[in-house]
Amino acid sequence: MDSNIWNIFLVLALFTLLRVFVVQRRSLLVSLFLHLLHPIRDRQGRQISGPPWIWANGHMIDKFLDGRAKSKEWRAYGAVYRIWSCGIPEIVITTAEDVRAFHSDSDQHAKSRSSNGGWFFHQLLGECMGLINGSRWKEVRGEFQHAFTHRAVMDMSPSISQYARDYVKDICSESSGPIVVHAANTLAKFPFFCTAKYLYGPLSREEKDELWALGQRNLALMRYVLAGGIYRFAMCRLFCTGTAKELDVFRRDWSNFNEKIYQTRRTSSPACLIVSIWKPVKEGTMKESEVLQTISEMLFANLDVSSHVLTWFVTLLAENTEVQQRLREEVESSKVSGVVSGEYCNSKDSLLRSCWLESLRLRPFTSFAIPESSPSPKILGGYQIPANASIVVDTHSINIENPLWGADTHQFRPERFAVIKPSELRYNFFAFGFGTRKCLGQHFAESMLKTFVVHLLDHYTVSIPSPSKHSGSGDYDLTRDSWVPTSNVHLILTKI
Ligand code: HEM
Repeated sequence: MDSNIWNIFLVLALFTLLRVFVVQRRSLLVSLFLHLLHPIRDRQGRQISGPPWIWANGHMIDKFLDGRAKSKEWRAYGAVYRIWSCGIPEIVITTAEDVRAFHSDSDQHAKSRSSNGGWFFHQLLGECMGLINGSRWKEVRGEFQHAFTHRAVMDMSPSISQYARDYVKDICSESSGPIVVHAANTLAKFPFFCTAKYLYGPLSREEKDELWALGQRNLALMRYVLAGGIYRFAMCRLFCTGTAKELDVFRRDWSNFNEKIYQTRRTSSPACLIVSIWKPVKEGTMKESEVLQTISEMLFANLDVSSHVLTWFVTLLAENTEVQQRLREEVESSKVSGVVSGEYCNSKDSLLRSCWLESLRLRPFTSFAIPESSPSPKILGGYQIPANASIVVDTHSINIENPLWGADTHQFRPERFAVIKPSELRYNFFAFGFGTRKCLGQHFAESMLKTFVVHLLDHYTVSIPSPSKHSGSGDYDLTRDSWVPTSNVHLILTKI
């Protein structure tokens, strides 16, 4: 009996060793082949360095799901290094000088096709505004632009404030004592439905439920993108028929939802954004897939981005009780006739604004920005980078491991923004992108999330139950089931 167990154990160990050997050899061979196929050298003829290629998706998964750790680990390969999205090379830049050099012709840049994410990703987001180029991009951006200017957002500020106040009141309307909530789960629906209201106008309970369910289905489909492998190629339609069906049914239902909302809002006043953007689709002057995927980008892809940003904004204030108290005092003193003022929520010169920027700095929603390319060759970190190569900015290096931010860079110290010049921020701070393709929703996102925090602090003190941080890493755990891992942290809310 005993010797049988030992034999099984030995066979399993040998099998595991063999697998590791085969997989590693395969990875090494692919790595060698890809290096020969895409030589990038400096003036002395030295090949660019980078982490070894990983079977079967290169570094695509690590880049998103473990970005913070990988940013630190991969910096060992130099200030400019190379990673792979499956077989596609991506050059990572980590310094403000290289970001400046790369963006010197940013008006001519192109986003990499489907963010180098492969076929399945292309079906979900490959034609959204953020990933198309040239005249198509100009046309789609032109259709949405008018609703997201600073002026347009300021006009909507009272409605954003009303929604934020109601949402905050509902968080723990039943209880009078302190309650413990899961930060991401409790906060995520606010930016989602606030953005939905901005696009569609007020939604009924049934419409909200339907939209949320569509978002969850979209999230489930995004997991195939993260799985990579066969889902990177169109042939997955042949081999994964169940998944292909799920994708088709989702796309049909998503189109039907927007058509239904359009029909019910056609004559409403004030006019809803969905009416002005769905009309050209019906008239055949805009591609349905581009408009649908852009709304998908704003609502579904952004669900993770906005909830990540909001969760960290609140968590950092909960951790830094002294800053939180000063901010609450600022909120109190800014009130007009006892009511939170829109002017204060949107002011650019306040502790609130500095806290907002500091939380964006310390917790960028992605450690590696969306890949894009210049039509001209570039010298970056001494390497001769060919035209049209995919370049990725390591946002963690820019926002944190950057001499501009000083010795206390890891600390939450919002006051640093009160003294820094905007020109210094240009290439030393990543939040809404660097060049011509900056986030369309930046004014809206800033207004919505700052307004929410003002109402939250007006009603509650926020703290963190201890111990909350992981004993090994010294940081909070992450939930890694989407392309933007959100913090897995709890908050204690105590009514004031
Ligand atoms: C705090 C929340 C948000 C952050 C941190 C953020 C960040 C970004 C970033 C980094 C980009 C890419 C810029 C580039 O590649 O240069 C982007 C693009 C974009 N964002 Fe946002 N975003 C946020 C919220 C929103 C919201 C609420 C909306 C819409 C309602 C939105 C709509 C878009 C669109 C449409 C693009 C593509 C722009 C283009 O390529 O022309 N974003 N965002």
